[in-house]
Amino acid sequence: MKQLRNISKVFFLSFFLLIGIIRGNAQKRTADSTELKIDALLKRMTIEEKVGQMNQYNGFWEVTGPAPKDGNAKLKYDHLRKGLVGAVLNVKGVENVRKLQEIVVKESRLGIPLLFGFDVIHGLKTLSPIPLAEAASWDLEAIEQSARMAAVEASAVGINWTFAPMVDITRDARWGRVMEGAGEDTYLGAQIGVARVKGFQGKNFSDNTSIAATAKHFAGYGFAESGKDYNTVDVGTSTLYNVIFPPFKALVENDVKTVMNSFNVVNGIPATGNKFLQREILKAAWNFKGFVISDWGSAGEMVDHGFANNLKDAAALAANAGSDMDMESYAYVTHLVELVKEGKVSIKVVDDAVRRILRVKFQLGLFANPYKYCDERKEKELLYHPAHLATALNMAKKSIVLLKNENNLLPLNKQQKNIAVIGALANDKDSPLGSWRIGADDSTAVTVLEGIKKYTNDFAYAKGADVVVGKTAFIEEVKINETDTSFFAEAIATAKNASVVVMVLGEHGFQSGEGRSRSKLDFPGVQQKLLEAIYRVNKNIVLVVMSGRPLAIPWANDHIPAIIEAWQLGSQTGNAVAQVLFGDYNPSGKLPMSFPKSVGQVPIYYNHLSTGRPGPKDLVFWAHYIDESHKPLYPFGYGLSYSTFKYSNLTVDATNKQAIKVSVTLNNTSNIAGEEVVQLYIQDKVSSIVRPVKELKGFKKVMLKAGEFKQIDFTLTNKELGYYNNEGQFIVEPGEFGVMVGTNSADGLISSFIIK
Ligand code: NOJ
Repeated sequence: MKQLRNISKVFFLSFFLLIGIIRGNAQKRTADSTELKIDALLKRMTIEEKVGQMNQYNGFWEVTGPAPKDGNAKLKYDHLRKGLVGAVLNVKGVENVRKLQEIVVKESRLGIPLLFGFDVIHGLKTLSPIPLAEAASWDLEAIEQSARMAAVEASAVGINWTFAPMVDITRDARWGRVMEGAGEDTYLGAQIGVARVKGFQGKNFSDNTSIAATAKHFAGYGFAESGKDYNTVDVGTSTLYNVIFPPFKALVENDVKTVMNSFNVVNGIPATGNKFLQREILKAAWNFKGFVISDWGSAGEMVDHGFANNLKDAAALAANAGSDMDMESYAYVTHLVELVKEGKVSIKVVDDAVRRILRVKFQLGLFANPYKYCDERKEKELLYHPAHLATALNMAKKSIVLLKNENNLLPLNKQQKNIAVIGALANDKDSPLGSWRIGADDSTAVTVLEGIKKYTNDFAYAKGADVVVGKTAFIEEVKINETDTSFFAEAIATAKNASVVVMVLGEHGFQSGEGRSRSKLDFPGVQQKLLEAIYRVNKNIVLVVMSGRPLAIPWANDHIPAIIEAWQLGSQTGNAVAQVLFGDYNPSGKLPMSFPKSVGQVPIYYNHLSTGRPGPKDLVFWAHYIDESHKPLYPFGYGLSYSTFKYSNLTVDATNKQAIKVSVTLNNTSNIAGEEVVQLYIQDKVSSIVRPVKELKGFKKVMLKAGEFKQIDFTLTNKELGYYNNEGQFIVEPGEFGVMVGTNSADGLISSFIIK
């Protein structure tokens, strides 16, 4: 009997091995045949046509109207017909995409199809929460689904390439683009980035709902000095290898098709002209097979950096450094042919770049059918599809973080009478959509008021104060209401005798995103004053914070009994917030970035290196501030639930050093079911490079019934224990490691183990 079982085991193993080999061979054959096709095409291409593939233009004229007769639009139109454009960006809509694709396919000599790139950052029409908010869910499956939904809608309007995900690690809440990433942690950021790539690129890349993803911005963009966008980046080797690179590497390992470089310098070299980053690391060390797209105009900006003499020089520097496609600098299309003829850029460099670009086009299936993303029926049926709205709602609920809940003020009773709702953001259909949603329709969010209305009509609303003055737009500065308090009186009267006040305060959706750095992190304008004025007449306040970044709100934390972080949650904002307020959804989010107490603490992040002067100490000589705590307001990984959880029995078994087992018992000590994100942190206690005080190396999001106990297991391998030395080698050093398992980065059970 046993023998029979063994035979059948062997049979099945061999069977699956065989299938694996067949599949592997099939993939290799497809890859080989793609390379042969590229070889053949390259042979037929002139230098001009090759350089054309390396050129990307922004959308330009009314494409479905007559051909432009003059100016820049005519130049771009002519270039399309001559095969001098490899990709466009910001063109969408089946009719427009088809029209442009037809021009290149039918009129250019070789008919090489275009790539259509677009910033599909958190949805196209149906919007999910901003990426930082999604990261707060720690729910990789939901995040993948959200990206999938975005790809389905984007591909339905002809887009085949998104400039997402942004995997820049961000530690400085002043930087406006923190909204676009996954926060401060490398481990979490890499996993979320991979989930997003899987969602965008789909299970089968040649499927017509799969679109190419972009790992951006390579590299270091999140470390802009003083949080000022486009500013200098100055990071050490260890930070580069251990903090900034890993998410990019993880995406490359998961077959991300393109990488975007960045506006900043790294050690004095602009990323676009940086051979070390693009050639040595990305293409050589990591064996990246896709192509590098420059960021908008970043080749040309090397002149402003004082790194290139002129645009021609910039073109040579960018191409030689490994930037394969130029976004809107006109550098390659104007100068690269000449540079090749002069011998300043070798034809090998050009061929390699073109091969990479063509590879992505072949893999997308564009040569087989250039119009595969042009289906009017899909365009009509898939935008705002009910299933997408459900995905966005699911993601939005999971992104909310409960920051404080004194005396279980939340959830509100569904029969709650006489509620006051205060704050302009409660009634705003646009701001909760967040930044970076250029394909979306304005003012399409469900407001918090609309969400509350689904539960009760027993409420009164007063805006209290406007957050912004005048119109808001993605490309313009937002004007904040700094003075007008004329609506305070009405709000105070509304709040005075209410049973509970729901106040919705925070940033406008366009206060974060590109070019939107802030020097303050408080509630913009007169909102803090409004909060205090309402508090004076009614202390029973539930504060709903909307923001595109961590805010410093110590006063609110000291005084307001219940606070939820509701970010900008996209199309379904109001429904998600209301479900949390009235207890139909039990909050489960955890902060992906530390929230500071004051802006002077920034950059503040949990996994800082050990200093030589840790504290607290009695005398002044330790790493701290004299006028502010050294701790954040809310640490990384923090978030409450309507349930309560207890951790016990932390055990570590390090007998097998290749697979160290860590277990903990989690108990839902409340009488309601809820989810907890169990987080595992380690510390390499003594190492040849100073290591962080702790680092996240595992997490599990688990649902526990009321009263339930569950054992949660983790395995630590070399991958989690090692780090990069300053030569860029990944090493695991013997010695003692600390382990912490708990509910956030500052609170957990502690143990340790030794690696011999
Ligand atoms: C500049 C931004 O930095 C980048 O992230 C974006 O994808 C491009 N513009 C294209 O819009």
